[in-house]
Amino acid sequence: MRDYCIVRLNLTSDLEGEVRSQLYRHPCLGLEFSPEAGRLAARAYFDADYPLAELRRDLERHAPALRWEGETRIRLPASGHSAGEPVRVALLGREILLRGGPAFGSGAHPTTRLAAALLGEIDLRGVSFLDLGAGTGILSILARKLGAAAVTAVEILPEARENAAENFRLNGAGGITLAAELGEAEGSYDLIVANILSPTLIALGDAILARLKPGGRIVLSGILSGELAEVLRAFRPCALERRLEEAEWRALRLRGR
Ligand SMILES: C[S@@+](CC[C@H](N)C(=O)[O-])C[C@H]1O[C@@H](n2cnc3c(N)ncnc32)[C@H](O)[C@@H]1O
Repeated sequence: MRDYCIVRLNLTSDLEGEVRSQLYRHPCLGLEFSPEAGRLAARAYFDADYPLAELRRDLERHAPALRWEGETRIRLPASGHSAGEPVRVALLGREILLRGGPAFGSGAHPTTRLAAALLGEIDLRGVSFLDLGAGTGILSILARKLGAAAVTAVEILPEARENAAENFRLNGAGGITLAAELGEAEGSYDLIVANILSPTLIALGDAILARLKPGGRIVLSGILSGELAEVLRAFRPCALERRLEEAEWRALRLRGR
């Protein structure tokens, strides 16, 4: 078991990029954003003994309109080799076993469901697949179950990588390479999925496009409705093939030239 502190924040969506980069600079172990009455609620996980006063000072300096709603201490199985029964998640009729790392993609979030739905509409058999922001590894596992030939899962947080590696083992999902950053993903891919927040999708746009095979597809999720135009601009060389939405969340499937 491990003790965590969850910091609860409330902000307007224009602050999301700044807040996100401050949280990861500190460093945050897991982060969830969800729409709440026209604003965004954030839950950021830290080690229980992480000095939060400095984080709060930085957030208030860089995003003065943000509201610090409070802190909650919890005890969770440490990700990686957690105790307890794995959770069974059904995605596109496939059963996936996940052992709970906090906030790295439980399958319950609309952004994961939307990405999965876009993947389920195309034939994944034999494709090379890149999962950027793999979290628990849920979409990589799904892609292997749907027939993807070779999967590379990129996840920036060490704890989430450990958790993904355990979930790959639990699901008997071989043939998945784990990488710590996009720069480590070699070669080019038929299909790239990225369920990350829009500021990151935009920042990594060119690097993602550079890894797409000619005529390949990109699935982007984690986009709030107001951010759609800017994300599409960052991926302009691609054609929009399909768009799905759930509440304020949007997801896109794009086709490369
Ligand atoms: C919303 S979760 C998605 C998890 C899972 N793919 C899903 O669909 O449920 C986004 C993940 O992206 C990771 N992430 C954020 N920025 C990243 C980056 N630049 N490179 C790789 N992973 C990143 C986060 O640590 C987090 O685990």
